[in-house]
Amino acid sequence: MNQPIGVIDSGVGGLTVAREIMRQLPKEKIVYLGDNQRCPYGPRPVEEVRSYTWQMIRYLLKHHSIKMLVIACNTATAAAYEQIKKELNIPVIGVIRPGARSALKVSRSYHIGVIGTFGTIKSNAYQQALLDINNESVINSLACPEFVPLVEANNFSSPEAYQTVAERLNILKSDAQMDTLILGCTHYPILRPLIQKAMGSAIKLIDSGEETALEVSTVLYHKNLTRKDRSQPVHQFYTTGSAQMMEAIGGQLLGYKPEVRTVRIDME
Ligand code: SIN
Repeated sequence: MNQPIGVIDSGVGGLTVAREIMRQLPKEKIVYLGDNQRCPYGPRPVEEVRSYTWQMIRYLLKHHSIKMLVIACNTATAAAYEQIKKELNIPVIGVIRPGARSALKVSRSYHIGVIGTFGTIKSNAYQQALLDINNESVINSLACPEFVPLVEANNFSSPEAYQTVAERLNILKSDAQMDTLILGCTHYPILRPLIQKAMGSAIKLIDSGEETALEVSTVLYHKNLTRKDRSQPVHQFYTTGSAQMMEAIGGQLLGYKPEVRTVRIDME
């Protein structure tokens, strides 16, 4: 019960999910691992994404004995969630179903936009999740491969970043009934002000972090896995890439500068 929750992502985007878990479950301890060295996952073949995701999981199981796994990466969730869930004997939470649920809670027209990486959009995972819940959903999907590199380069508020975002999203404006847009990549909430400005204030933006953290909370309570230790949790952060870069971006997202260690996982 006092073991940590493992949170994995291809890079820094999953910190938006970790932040929400910390906010909703302040007693829980998190071990975060970002595969920044091989980010982005979005353009990679499904088999490669699966193999990298398993390396992250094996690393966390071997070195941190996690009690739950959160796949805080849409591309990895789309490629490997079902397989991972079947094979692990700890609870596994992905980000796609929570994001779909959240969008259908707030949409009035059920015309929903989804933006994500090539991998996520090609998988149709959001389409399926939305239609599973409400088969009257009208879905407009768009891959935005330019967005993740902006975030990983810590370039998420410049005029050039805004221009890139606005040009790409213009394509989505053809559906005048669309009232909700799912940020189907955990990196995109970091671009939220730019995306909101480009889409206009009438469009509700859905970041799956909040609903994912809610699901984490529900499952922990249901399975009696909540942390009983009363001491303040000390979170741990690992990356396969630059520790300084994750510390810099993490500092902006988490409200404190995390101490990050670089690790190798390609032997796992
Ligand atoms: C990526 O690695 O391309 C983005 C991560 C995500 O899909 O959430």
